[in-house]
Amino acid sequence: MSPTAESSQQAGQGPKARLSAPNVAIAGVTGAVGQEFLALLAERDFPIGELRMLASSRSAGKTIDFKGKTYTVEELTEDSFKGVDLALFSAGGAQSKRFAPAASDAGATVVDNSSAFRMADGVPLVVPEVNPQAVKGIELGKGGIIANPNCSTIIMLMAVTPLHRAANVKRMVVSTYQAASGAGAAAMAELEQQTRDVLAGDPVTQNVFNFQYAFNLFSHNSAMQDNGYNQEEMKMVHETHKIWGQAGEQKSAITATCVRVPIMRAHAESINLTFGKPLSESEAVAILKDAPGVSLIDDRSDNRFPTPLDASGKDDVFVGRVRQDISQPDGVGLDLFCCGDQIRKGAALNAIQIAELLL
Ligand SMILES: NC(=O)c1ccc[n+]([C@@H]2O[C@H](COP(=O)([O-])OP(=O)(O)OC[C@H]3O[C@@H](n4cnc5c(N)ncnc54)[C@H](OP(=O)(O)O)[C@@H]3O)[C@@H](O)[C@H]2O)c1
Repeated sequence: MSPTAESSQQAGQGPKARLSAPNVAIAGVTGAVGQEFLALLAERDFPIGELRMLASSRSAGKTIDFKGKTYTVEELTEDSFKGVDLALFSAGGAQSKRFAPAASDAGATVVDNSSAFRMADGVPLVVPEVNPQAVKGIELGKGGIIANPNCSTIIMLMAVTPLHRAANVKRMVVSTYQAASGAGAAAMAELEQQTRDVLAGDPVTQNVFNFQYAFNLFSHNSAMQDNGYNQEEMKMVHETHKIWGQAGEQKSAITATCVRVPIMRAHAESINLTFGKPLSESEAVAILKDAPGVSLIDDRSDNRFPTPLDASGKDDVFVGRVRQDISQPDGVGLDLFCCGDQIRKGAALNAIQIAELLL
């Protein structure tokens, strides 16, 4: 998609209402993202007919309260989706690969948080503020799979797309500072436990990561590729091209370094941009001020810029440290820093916004 074509699209323009209260299933309801789905569905008053809560056999039989009603968690199986119009998946890639096609065949429209289908042809990869047009033609209750992008990619594109529309990003260099919550509930528990261990002078308990996490940081734990990039870094590259609709020579050059930091919740990213034409600091700030889903924290006099704590539990992506890159000529370079809650905008919120496009 060209920057001009994108700019004519507005988040929130979806197909006309078809189902006033779809039947909803949440696969992975007991996990970090699944719990956030519940919080957001309630907070946003998402219309729901029947609600089905699904997880592994380990959780089957547990009860969860939602909007004053108690639900029993059921085991996720191929037969879980009869009568379901919307299936929100956050049970891991293997479960999505196995059960999302069955859900779609049963008539449920799937919004999947895993990476299983993101790059598949014909599967829309959607950030509602960026490419809402990608869900055109999809109707709740009529099957189909829509993919939610990688959390670091979503947060980056929330900050960068408004600038891309104005001045066409030619090259982007991003470094991430990623929170424990991005690796799920067990990783959050590990960071908490290790912090206690270190402060008590005890040996650290290591179950999730190969490294001590508390008081440390390390290269992202996703699989290393032959080219020396890890999977998370390559997701940021490939998914951005798909979401921006870029192919061949049109593709922005993107390189990423992803690092896990001992933060409980909300990712941070340092982003360096090279544009196709000059974009001044003040123009960039004005654009970001008006961008939906973006909040500016950019007070140089007070050294006040976005922090993961600012973003934790919030819907918006926070952007600051917007400055002309002095290493690039003719005003074509900018630096910025952003923070976003990756369980919210990076996962559950983005998926629910996608579903809202279909209401
Ligand atoms: N955390 C994030 O910020 C984030 C962001 C973007 C995307 N995602 C993606 O979202 C998915 C879930 O992430 P998470 O952070 O919520 O992980 P999590 O906290 O570890 O939760 C995993 C969920 O999947 C369920 N599950 C695991 N194995 C299952 C099986 N065999 N059958 C049915 N359910 C099963 C678990 O149920 P039990 O409780 O029964 O084990 C739990 O509900 C992953 O694909 C992840 O990549 C996460």
